[in-house]
Amino acid sequence: MITEYLKVAADSVEIYERAGKIIREGGLVAFPTETVYGLGGNAYDPMAAERIFAAKGRPSDNPLIVHVAVPSDAEAFAKTNDIYYKLAEHFMPGPLTVILPKKDNIPDSVTGGLDTVAVRCPEHICANKLIQAAGVPIAAPSANISGCPSPTSAEHVYKDMNGRIPMILDGGESRIGVESTVIRLEEDGCTILRPGEIIARELSAVVGNVYVADAVTDPAAAGDNPESPGMKYKHYAPKARLVLLSGDDRSFADYVNTYKGRCAVLSYSENIGDYLRAFVMNAGSKRSAKEQMQRLFSLLRECDNIDTEIIFAHLPPKKDEFLALYNRIIRAAGSEVIYLDK
Ligand code: TXA
Ligand code: MG
Repeated sequence: MITEYLKVAADSVEIYERAGKIIREGGLVAFPTETVYGLGGNAYDPMAAERIFAAKGRPSDNPLIVHVAVPSDAEAFAKTNDIYYKLAEHFMPGPLTVILPKKDNIPDSVTGGLDTVAVRCPEHICANKLIQAAGVPIAAPSANISGCPSPTSAEHVYKDMNGRIPMILDGGESRIGVESTVIRLEEDGCTILRPGEIIARELSAVVGNVYVADAVTDPAAAGDNPESPGMKYKHYAPKARLVLLSGDDRSFADYVNTYKGRCAVLSYSENIGDYLRAFVMNAGSKRSAKEQMQRLFSLLRECDNIDTEIIFAHLPPKKDEFLALYNRIIRAAGSEVIYLDK
């Protein structure tokens, strides 16, 4: 299959018309969002879902997120409620995905056989224009080959999907760099199934109690738990061994500097000059979870282009604004952590 690669802006009307038509007719289009790039298909078409799983090489029990142009469009296929609209008022369009009971028109292949559906209204203008042009809700996972880091640029998508899908829309680098916060609603609040840019403190101000699923900080806890199917797969891992070090900056640098083999380091920008022989990559400021999130997936992809046997990175703090970072990087490292401080 020939893959068309098109740069888009808010006013690329003709391109959105063509892309929307591909989606209506059952084909796939990769598109930018503020979190990561998505691989979109018609959410009402079971064949489109099959094509998504095939293009990604993804197990088909892992359900897809359904993207809408405005929050009330979810009425067509999900059973909404007051808390959904309260959340929508504060966080949509934006990087929040809400799990709701599904209606019968969403095929099982989209929800992995669950009786719930994940709803998200992206803020990226190109995503919004595409959904409007398609005229149907768009089911879309991240546009990477299953197991690889999610794509934060159209170049990443091209590398994974060239020849597998008819069209890639390039709307520039993703602003956030990690996937949306996924939540399940509870009687007295909500549970975070996957952490993202929107954090517990912000959700709590709107819905009350915020719980965090065990699988967020402990990949093994995901097991066969059908409530967070996506969390059980090994994800994001570079080809070289990735090892997280927990300790102060000094002991981190000492450990890296005394390592005998070829090594690379995902360094805080403050500590770039501390390494004697390691290949150094700038992971962003120690103080900025947002900067580190924006760079993480792109850096994990870059790791595959350098000649190293091991990559060292900091274990992020296990707390609110760093939780998304923690969740992604422990998965990438297969939970391999060395405690220098114990
Ligand atoms: O930021 C994002 O959410 C991106 C962009 C493209 O919107 N999409 C994305 O999709 O990350 P994906 O398929 O890579 O991740 C979807 C996550 C998985 O962890 C999946 O298990 C969870 O959402 N999920 C989807 N439907 C669910 C449901 N009905 N119940 C529980 N979890 C669900
Ligand atoms: Mg994904």
